[in-house]
Amino acid sequence: MFDLNQIRAAFPALGMQVHGRPALFLDNPGGTQVPQVVIDAMADYLIHANANRGGAFATAQRSDASLDDAHAAMADLLNAASPDEIVFGPNMTTLTFAVSRALGRDLQQGDEIVLTRMDHDANISPWTLLAEDRGATVRWVDFDVEDYTLDMAGLRGLLNERTKIVAVGYASNATGTVHDVATITRWAHEVGALVFVDAVQYVPHGPVDVQALGCDLLACSAYKFFGPHVGVLYGRYELLDRLRAYKVRPAKNQPPHKFETGTQNHEGIAGVLAAVEYLADLGFRYGAGLPLTPPLSQREREPEGAPPRPLGEGRGEGAPPRLLGEGWGEGAPRRQRLHAAMSLLRAYDHVLSAAILDQLAGIPGLRVHGVTDRGRLAERVPTISFSWQGHHPRAVAEALGQAGIFVWDGNYYALAVTERLGLEEQGGMVRIGAVHYNTLDEIVRLGDALRRLA
Ligand SMILES: Cc1ncc(COP(=O)(O)O)c(C=O)c1O
Repeated sequence: MFDLNQIRAAFPALGMQVHGRPALFLDNPGGTQVPQVVIDAMADYLIHANANRGGAFATAQRSDASLDDAHAAMADLLNAASPDEIVFGPNMTTLTFAVSRALGRDLQQGDEIVLTRMDHDANISPWTLLAEDRGATVRWVDFDVEDYTLDMAGLRGLLNERTKIVAVGYASNATGTVHDVATITRWAHEVGALVFVDAVQYVPHGPVDVQALGCDLLACSAYKFFGPHVGVLYGRYELLDRLRAYKVRPAKNQPPHKFETGTQNHEGIAGVLAAVEYLADLGFRYGAGLPLTPPLSQREREPEGAPPRPLGEGRGEGAPPRLLGEGWGEGAPRRQRLHAAMSLLRAYDHVLSAAILDQLAGIPGLRVHGVTDRGRLAERVPTISFSWQGHHPRAVAEALGQAGIFVWDGNYYALAVTERLGLEEQGGMVRIGAVHYNTLDEIVRLGDALRRLA
């Protein structure tokens, strides 16, 4: 699919040694490593553009241009209709607390918020605390503890005219399950509720299209998709415009500025821009020949120098798919290069998921808590958690850590999941999370280490 040696060479951290052995990064759901271009972009910002917003001098102007470019880049990654729909902030959790407070201003006693037990606490506590403040009621969606999928029928049954907010994850950071967010959004909108999507764990693994999903708000974190520690919130423009933000008076009252409180992490945001460009470059280099059927917004730019295209050509139903690399080259719009890249990563995900599941299968007493059916790999990302009879999760993580293999243990803030599975008191689960720079040889090395522990 792509040249893994070339990809790995772009990430300096992947050359790290631990106790004389190459470090094996399988802690990616907790945070990914960054390519050199991200490090360079952050250093470059600090050397050439380090200033506050809106100044009448060179560094401030460069800084403003970098921030504007980063908004446009994130709009491309998420297929937002406008860069003004992209809000940067410290992290997903802080952005979610902030926007939930703004939404709460319209909430009345007796209104209902729907949450799921499969979510990270950053998509639970902001809403339960808001409900407490406003006298709203929280309704819970359960998940099947054998199948690890959301109770969709139960979710639909909870929706009614009192439902004001539905907060749902895109992919679970514990079980790896990918939820049918488009259907949930459609149902929620039928009763007039707003939909907030926690896409932190999905963005590194596949194409996200907020317009196709139809969601109202969607949050993610750049440090999970090869960027620095910066949070990103997408909000439908009309909604962001209508909401009253908690802001200081001199700050602009338009989206996205009204939600970007205080001075932002400008060098980090320059790094986010570079991370998106890194992904777009993957699409350019390895997406050649890939059918491109991305949902194209009307704001999408044509490649520079492209001949005028008759209306409807190549985009409508039944039109032949365009292929990236066929005359598009570097001129292909960034959205298309990103879509190609993320489609490739999604396809490689299935290979990684299958490889990890193969290594875990057959280890006595080990139980994967997530989709294991090889025919259903599209329902998960390669974030795979397990419990292991007779082995405390911390002890497993420590032993692997000694062998230079980085995995997480505990609840990773998916407290509702470990509680629901009855695993919280036993130290939670061990979590393995692969991304596109992981190799199949690394997965075999993990399996060998686990078998030695067994
Ligand atoms: C699914 C999910 N949501 C939310 C978060 C919180 O993100 P942040 O650290 O940016 O607040 C995480 C972090 O691990 C996560 O995995």
